[in-house]
Amino acid sequence: MFTLHGKTALVTGGASGIGLAISQTFAKAGATVHILEINASQAQQVAEAITADGGRAFAHAVDISRQADVLEVVGKIVAEGPIHILVNNAGIAHIGTAESTTEADFDRIVSVNIKGVYNCLHAVIPHLKANGGGVILNMASVAATIGIPDRFAYSMSKGAVLTMTLSVAKDYLKHNIRCNCISPARVHTPFVDGFLAKNYPGREEEMFAKLAATQPIGRMAKPSEIGALALYLCSDEAGFITGCDYPIDGGFTRLNN
Ligand SMILES: NC(=O)c1ccc[n+]([C@@H]2O[C@H](COP(=O)([O-])OP(=O)(O)OC[C@H]3O[C@@H](n4cnc5c(N)ncnc54)[C@H](O)[C@@H]3O)[C@@H](O)[C@H]2O)c1
Repeated sequence: MFTLHGKTALVTGGASGIGLAISQTFAKAGATVHILEINASQAQQVAEAITADGGRAFAHAVDISRQADVLEVVGKIVAEGPIHILVNNAGIAHIGTAESTTEADFDRIVSVNIKGVYNCLHAVIPHLKANGGGVILNMASVAATIGIPDRFAYSMSKGAVLTMTLSVAKDYLKHNIRCNCISPARVHTPFVDGFLAKNYPGREEEMFAKLAATQPIGRMAKPSEIGALALYLCSDEAGFITGCDYPIDGGFTRLNN
């Protein structure tokens, strides 16, 4: 069950947090993993660790917000063999309301969280089509569908990830391409630690406990738990699933009342 033997997967942001767990899980399941990362040195370390562990992984330095660079990297990967799976995981956080969000921050969120996903879809879909199909998995968030305080730009970007998922799922049904997204609540990754350090300096522990308690299950998710769902959704066993948004949220969406 849930093997990815013989499959090639691209994982954006695959060197940290959720993306790292997905890279490791997919490699363990037999996939060849290509990590597309802005953090080149960390991606290289992760690829080497996966290889040392008996898997197959390669690091590619790329900023997903730059279309020409994404096209170049995808072209190089395809020259070596077909791509079967794209995981659009890379994303950045932002705290703020419509009033406090600056134009520069708004543009940055759009360019990574929305345009970055579009760039990878735009670059990879022609190859999936040519290869007779494939699977795309996008990382949305509970913020795509629930009103969360102080997440104006971030929520906007994850709403776009959800609607891009539906659009791609619909447009490529006839090309045998499945497209779904995952919507985690809080997952304990450097992403969470980073925004606590930046936005609540000196109050990190207090805010961490507060954020953990917002999941009715009483904790944050582990990255490996998201990796397991990603593996299922990208495996052949999930062949009947497309156009879906999967909450993985410790009850955040339906039980917070
Ligand atoms: N951690 C959470 O609580 C949580 C909850 C819901 C959704 N998410 C989403 O999950 C995804 C991964 O989050 P995480 O917590 O693992 O974050 P993380 O910060 O630990 O990892 C993100 C990775 O993306 C890479 N990256 C950032 N910008 C990039 C760019 N322009 N080009 C290429 N790579 C880039 C970073 O270098 C980093 O390695 C994000 O899309 C995030 O919005 C996270």
